[in-house]
Amino acid sequence: MASPSPLFLLLILLFAILPSPISPSSINDTPSTYIVSVHPDAVKPSIFPTHSHWYQSSLSSLLSPSPPLLIHTYTGAAFHGFSVKLSPTQALLLRAQPHVLSLLPDRLRRLHTTRSPHFLGLGTSTDSAGLLKDSDFGSDLVVAVLDTGISPDRQSFHDRDLPPVPTKWKGSCVNTPDFPSSSCNRKLVGAKFFCAGYEATNGKMNQTSEFRSPRDSDGHGTHTASIAAGRYVYPASTLGYARGLAAGMAPKARLAVYKVCWTAGCYDSDILAAFDAAVADGVDVISLSVGGVVVPYYLDAIAIGAFGAMDRGIFVSASAGNGGPGALTVTNVAPWVTTVGAGTLDRDFPADVKLGNGKVIPGMSVYSGPGLAPGKTYPLVYAGTQAGDGYSSSLCLEGSLDPKFVAGKIVMCDRGINSRAAKGEVVKKAGGIGMILANGVFDGEGLVADCHVLPATAVGATSGEEIRRYISSAKPDSPPPTATIVFKGTRLGVKPAPVVASFSARGPNPESPEILKPDLVAPGLNILAAWPDKVSPSGIPSDHRTTEFNILSGTSMACPHVSGLAALLKAAHPEWSPAAIKSAFMTTAYTVDNRGETMLDESTGNSSTVMDFGSGHVHPQKAMDPGLVYDMTTFDYVDFLCNSNYTEQNIKVVTRKNADCSGARRAGHSGNLNYPSMAVVFQQYGIKQKMSTHFIRTVTNVGDGESVYSARVVAPAGMVATVKPEKLVFRRVGQKLNFLVRVQTRVAKLAPGGSVMKSGFIVWSDGKHNVTSPIVVTLQQPL
Ligand SMILES: *[C@@H]1O[C@H](CO)[C@@H](O)[C@H](O)[C@H]1NC(C)=O
Ligand SMILES: *[C@@H]1O[C@H](CO)[C@@H](O)[C@H](O)[C@H]1NC(C)=O
Ligand SMILES: *[C@@H]1O[C@H](CO)[C@@H](O)[C@H](O)[C@H]1NC(C)=O
Ligand SMILES: *[C@@H]1O[C@H](CO)[C@@H](O)[C@H](O)[C@H]1NC(C)=O
Repeated sequence: MASPSPLFLLLILLFAILPSPISPSSINDTPSTYIVSVHPDAVKPSIFPTHSHWYQSSLSSLLSPSPPLLIHTYTGAAFHGFSVKLSPTQALLLRAQPHVLSLLPDRLRRLHTTRSPHFLGLGTSTDSAGLLKDSDFGSDLVVAVLDTGISPDRQSFHDRDLPPVPTKWKGSCVNTPDFPSSSCNRKLVGAKFFCAGYEATNGKMNQTSEFRSPRDSDGHGTHTASIAAGRYVYPASTLGYARGLAAGMAPKARLAVYKVCWTAGCYDSDILAAFDAAVADGVDVISLSVGGVVVPYYLDAIAIGAFGAMDRGIFVSASAGNGGPGALTVTNVAPWVTTVGAGTLDRDFPADVKLGNGKVIPGMSVYSGPGLAPGKTYPLVYAGTQAGDGYSSSLCLEGSLDPKFVAGKIVMCDRGINSRAAKGEVVKKAGGIGMILANGVFDGEGLVADCHVLPATAVGATSGEEIRRYISSAKPDSPPPTATIVFKGTRLGVKPAPVVASFSARGPNPESPEILKPDLVAPGLNILAAWPDKVSPSGIPSDHRTTEFNILSGTSMACPHVSGLAALLKAAHPEWSPAAIKSAFMTTAYTVDNRGETMLDESTGNSSTVMDFGSGHVHPQKAMDPGLVYDMTTFDYVDFLCNSNYTEQNIKVVTRKNADCSGARRAGHSGNLNYPSMAVVFQQYGIKQKMSTHFIRTVTNVGDGESVYSARVVAPAGMVATVKPEKLVFRRVGQKLNFLVRVQTRVAKLAPGGSVMKSGFIVWSDGKHNVTSPIVVTLQQPL
């Protein structure tokens, strides 16, 4: 018998590598998109005019006779490599090539707005005054927004009185039929779109329902861009609510828009291409209100793209996600990203439910339109008690309501599955005249105000239970249940505020527990910002209302607040690194509300903790002058990844640096990254065990030349924390000094698998600046 052919041997090898089952017929060889990381030191042979030619030619020879076409070529500004659709067999072949560092499966990400059905929220606006609003302050800076595009015709994006585009700007504006390059101006200085990865998975997009251009058919990108850098617009309001001045955080900064999100979501392969383009174009800040599941950094295209940007001095802020209030829900957790959760403003939109028994139940709404008759009450039903499928009717899903049951009535629906505004549409279609939207237990007491298509209000989980009880307690011989909704407009000076939004994603950090995340909270509830003309405020196609501004909630709205502020900080301190800017935000953040008490957690009404707000709520004025900063360089992050036990190969995928971990691993632990917060997790074993750790930190003087800082340490409850030295004497600006914080604790009584988190803080003070860092200790009892 002849010896086995090489192909046969290869197949044997492949089947041995692929996961079971082994039978060839059961192997799924359906192609999917991969992001291919190419060794950064691999030199393109000079016969190829571009990297695309080189990569395509390599694919053609390796995967003939039917080589796939490249989706994106990453130029190397933020990432080296390309994306391509491959079968699992082709992926294995490519993976084995010497120039290939790794293959990342493409992932789908989602916008972090609560308008998407799965999330909830409540909140406030961006009309707090920006810093130095009348000068050209910040006009040299370009903020990149990676989102759903932009509606360029909004007043928030006019370029009146702006100086010429900064000469360092290398970006451009695409030219398409629905987005002519004249859409750009001295405010919107760049606009590009990235859909090759999206179309590789979903097929050609439907150009009736979305624009194959930077034009925004959703509204999210227009909203986030105007939060970061919208111009002053007065009067601004959405259908009469939140009337006042609207302005972004950095009204003079320039915007560059990179559209990466489409109706079916946002793909990593496109997001990475946008990072690459933004870095090459010369932006100063990147804002990303998008996220997905947390994976190790070497598999996370957002973490990788953000690293490339940080390495070029670009500040990257990202939304924490709307998966709260549960623990471990925070996303976008890489230490080189600033991760932003959401808090309320001191403004809300009360719309109370008045029940037939006289009871008034607090609600929240920005409905505007024909109201309910004043003084009149209406029959009230709970959709879940309609005969038939009680589950789908309780949620007011499409087609689930019987007009005979709901016509002429106020209908209570539960949250979940379809969007909040869509439920209103379902009730309206079935003839209902109003809606009460009740939170489920997981939503807690956090309320989201929406632009509903009928008179409607949102109530908390406890209130929902109370209304259900009122409805079900009605006896046949007593008067039937009734209600009305009283819309009270915009209320200012709400106390307490800020409150951490229920939906805001929480720590601990699932990937690096020794890095506290989120880093900060910023306004993310009921935020008023620009809105496309062609999209209704409720986002429902049958809703034909138009508005220049809309009110949205989500960590998506919190992130661009920090992005715009980062542009202002960078304008004031051009030499600051991204880490220095982050440090300024974190060490000056506050944790008390406008009553002087610890910020509350909207989901429970109890005090919130560092797992909810990180270092606290951003304080723009104080961040401008922090006194000291905790700076970090690319090499500090490489050491951190070494100490997080990433392989040198995986570190290279993230950092494009040849890491030699032996030194870092000898020298320290991952908690020694020079982060502006300090966190440690102790595993408990013996009863007598004493646990201790130290945090080594370096602070850089960015305040006055000569200054003396003294430390005050408040240890986590029941623990001992000390600092050495207790005094730092600076002689000049830019000087760096080290200190060491030691934390010791004893075993806590915990059930197997249980854990307890305690926090304290250290504050360095020179009398003019307080530089504060949380100290967070978690004790875990193994199972
Ligand atoms: C494209 O979108 C429009 C509007 O949503 C819809 O009517 C049409 O059926 C869609 N076409 C395809 C091919 O899906
Ligand atoms: C909120 O506080 C109350 C009273 O201190 C406590 O009983 C309850 O467990 C707390 N809820 C949560 C979710 O921590
Ligand atoms: C890395 O590995 C070392 C040695 O096994 C271990 O002591 C350390 O806790 C690990 N660090 C992390 C962050 O997992
Ligand atoms: C620093 O903190 C102390 C104690 O909370 C406070 O009394 C002082 O006013 C703060 N100083 C500044 C400059 O914020």
